[in-house]
Amino acid sequence: MEKTRVAIVGMGTVGTGVAKLLLDHGDRLARHAGRVLWLEKATVRDLKKNRSIQLPKGVLTDDLNSVLQDPNIEVVAHLVGGIEPARTIMLQLLDAGKDVVTANKALLAEHGEELFDRARALGRTIAFEASVGGGIPIIANISQCFSANQIRSLRGILNGTSNYIITQMEEQGEDYADAVRHAQELGYAEADPTMDVDGSDAAQKLAILAHLAFGVRVKWREIHRRGLEAFQLADLRYASELGYRIKLIATAHLHEETGQLELHVSPTLIRKGRPLAEVRGAYNAILVVGDAVGDMFFHGKGAGQMPTASAVVADMIDTAAGRTDITFRRLELWSDRESKIEILPYEHSKGRYYMRFHVADEPGVLSQITGILGKHQVSIASIIQHEPEPEQTTGSSSDESRDGREGSPLTVPLVIMTHQATESAAMAANTEIRNLASVRDEAVYLRVSEGDKA
Ligand code: NAP
Ligand code: HSE
Repeated sequence: MEKTRVAIVGMGTVGTGVAKLLLDHGDRLARHAGRVLWLEKATVRDLKKNRSIQLPKGVLTDDLNSVLQDPNIEVVAHLVGGIEPARTIMLQLLDAGKDVVTANKALLAEHGEELFDRARALGRTIAFEASVGGGIPIIANISQCFSANQIRSLRGILNGTSNYIITQMEEQGEDYADAVRHAQELGYAEADPTMDVDGSDAAQKLAILAHLAFGVRVKWREIHRRGLEAFQLADLRYASELGYRIKLIATAHLHEETGQLELHVSPTLIRKGRPLAEVRGAYNAILVVGDAVGDMFFHGKGAGQMPTASAVVADMIDTAAGRTDITFRRLELWSDRESKIEILPYEHSKGRYYMRFHVADEPGVLSQITGILGKHQVSIASIIQHEPEPEQTTGSSSDESRDGREGSPLTVPLVIMTHQATESAAMAANTEIRNLASVRDEAVYLRVSEGDKA
């Protein structure tokens, strides 16, 4: 059987998984590719680091030139994270005549245009299934399987680390910092987990999906995004009491009346029992709605060594077999085609909202708050005032000492669910309420998914 010589640049979590599949399941891969995928080199930064895999002699190297200058290596899995040196390495690989497979969504979201232009100019390909949704084949589905459709919306959980953290806190009562550390140990998190928890990683993936599905060339930094900092453990409890779970949801929704695309990453309350509410741990899920196909739900491991390696190796097989060449040339991603779709300004988007305030337990406070909501045309669906937290028994509780109002009255949590309102109205009301003297500094404001949309 013919051989295609391949290399891996970056032998971290994902690179190691790719090497395992290439070395342990070579026969299976060869059957699918119609040729043997022969691992020629695997490059790392630090040769002295302990590796969890034993590679054949001569394969592991810290010399990228041994890949760049070997004309027999045709396909390279580029598995270095971040922007630099990842960008330079990818350009060097393309210039050296290699077809590239990558899992680096940050790099594509930031420099996709430059990289795709270079690949096209050189007649090379970039395959990137693993960049969104880990093992879920969402890129192939959107760019190929749904090509008879106008996609109407994409909604999903696109970051495994943050979903893992939420699940651990909710189900195991784990502390936030411990859950982050476990996500890192399990290989789910980015080198800098800030990108996972603040919604950036999900926004980068959403930018790629929105580009594929709607042709919009959106800069990921311009996508409105909030992350796990927007709520606390108490909100997971209150949401649960109301029959919801909180999930970090990435949304791309085409409003057909206006032709505008709503895009954001928002912690969102989703009714228990809805598919997205039940996604646990490092799993991702994406609900795609197409005008012909209807609703389609994808669910699978969105982070971790072997699920991600599964997507990378599938791309390597497609590239070696010549299939990527056909799809890449036809793909309009980062092409010159102008999209007619406009992005909906975030403040014009509409939704239901969950608001939690810590308010002084005094007469008249509730009417002040409901008055402000009414003034901004935000209608209340339900309101719960809890008794003080058990640990808060005096006016010098930790909450009050945090805002420096010694001797101030006891505070109680107030949870409000609204009916649909525009983001600008809900936000204006929320800001005005937070500024009331009777409202302490801890205030939470989250989106709520409409009953049947999850
Ligand atoms: P990782 O564990 O941090 O591994 C990165 C690897 O890159 C390390 O082996 C490192 O070498 C190597 N490296 C860094 N700079 C290098 C350089 N200049 N030359 C050669 N090698 C260099 O990262 P990862 O989790 O495998 O992620 C890789 C990519 O996949 C990222 O873009 C990430 O966003 C994406 N991704 C990850 C997952 C996941 O679950 N982990 C899922 C989907 C996508 P040393 O080992 O010597 O330090
Ligand atoms: N850090 C990412 C996540 C890896 O947790 O989803 C998958 O892209």
